Amino acid sequence: MKEIERLKDISKGRDDLEQLLNNTLDIIKACEDLESVTKARISILGKKGTVAGIFKKIPEFPYKDRPLLGEFGNLLKKVAEQELDSKEKQIRAAIREKKLAGLAIDVTLPGRGKPLGRRHILNMTIREIVSIFLSLGYRVIHGPEVELDYYNFEALNTPTYHPARSLQDTFYFKRDDPVKDSRDDVLLRTHTSPVQVRVMESTKPPLYVISPGKAYRRDEIDATHSAVFHQVEGFAVDRGITMGDLKGTLEVFAKKLFGEEKSVRFRPHFFPFTEPSAEVDVSCFACDTAGCSLCKGVGWLEIMGCGMIDPNVFSYVGYDPEEYQGFAFGMGVERIAMMKHGIDDMRLFYENDVRFLRQFHV
Ligand code: PHE
Repeated sequence: MKEIERLKDISKGRDDLEQLLNNTLDIIKACEDLESVTKARISILGKKGTVAGIFKKIPEFPYKDRPLLGEFGNLLKKVAEQELDSKEKQIRAAIREKKLAGLAIDVTLPGRGKPLGRRHILNMTIREIVSIFLSLGYRVIHGPEVELDYYNFEALNTPTYHPARSLQDTFYFKRDDPVKDSRDDVLLRTHTSPVQVRVMESTKPPLYVISPGKAYRRDEIDATHSAVFHQVEGFAVDRGITMGDLKGTLEVFAKKLFGEEKSVRFRPHFFPFTEPSAEVDVSCFACDTAGCSLCKGVGWLEIMGCGMIDPNVFSYVGYDPEEYQGFAFGMGVERIAMMKHGIDDMRLFYENDVRFLRQFHV
């Protein structure tokens, strides 16, 4: 650098100038951060700084020395500015370097695992039930949860005075235009059986249908009741279908679902839309029909309702009961999942505690 050589030249043999020059350069060299650069800038180039001090002192010197001192002051100012700027640049570069090093990605760090979702136990149970019927040649058809009284009750041979129709058991929708005919009342379906009517009404036999979905009842929520629950409906309509077909089908199903070693029995029951009707039981998981606390001494656990489709239902959908016969069944998914997995409180299904839900593999 030309200026520095000239400064050295001028200060040669003049201790005061030499010291001034060296001091100034040392101060700049010693700077380690931006703060010290700023301080040095002020102390060297500021109003009361080193360079200003030189110019202030010039009048005290003899005329002949003054131009040289002026040159010294100007050059020192220039050199100090350059040195301070390059020092500041250096420091800023180092800061940036350090920041980037902190941002560097360590590709050897193990990744953070994302927890994997899984199917809900109720959906797993529905799939398991449905897949057994798919293997028997059934097909899946869904129906609406918001239903007409006609499909939920009337066409299922459930007369107006039937207790299930009361406001106490069924969620009805309020209508702005109160209907004259109760069949037009809108409600949340209380079971999946209305799908039977909807499918038969629009499709000719043969029919082998399975229909999973939600159902609603005005139940107090407790360990075995929920206002929203799940059912799987199934029905078959064809020529020459007998109660033997119903029994055989449901026996195969129950053993596939609960285990070949289980026994299955049919117990007479009543449903308005089937005749004859029955409830299906499987031998108790804990005592195998001996009677214990799980089955409350009965020896058997109820798994579903079923029966031969009532000819009255056929007449609602325009089927000739002389030509076609059919059976139907409906089961509660929660109940079946509870039995299969030894769960004693239905509310666990809906609380979404992953510690509970994680446990199930089907
Ligand atoms: N729908 C009946 C219920 O909810 C079950 C059922 C379905 C019974 C089909 C017979 C035939 O209890």
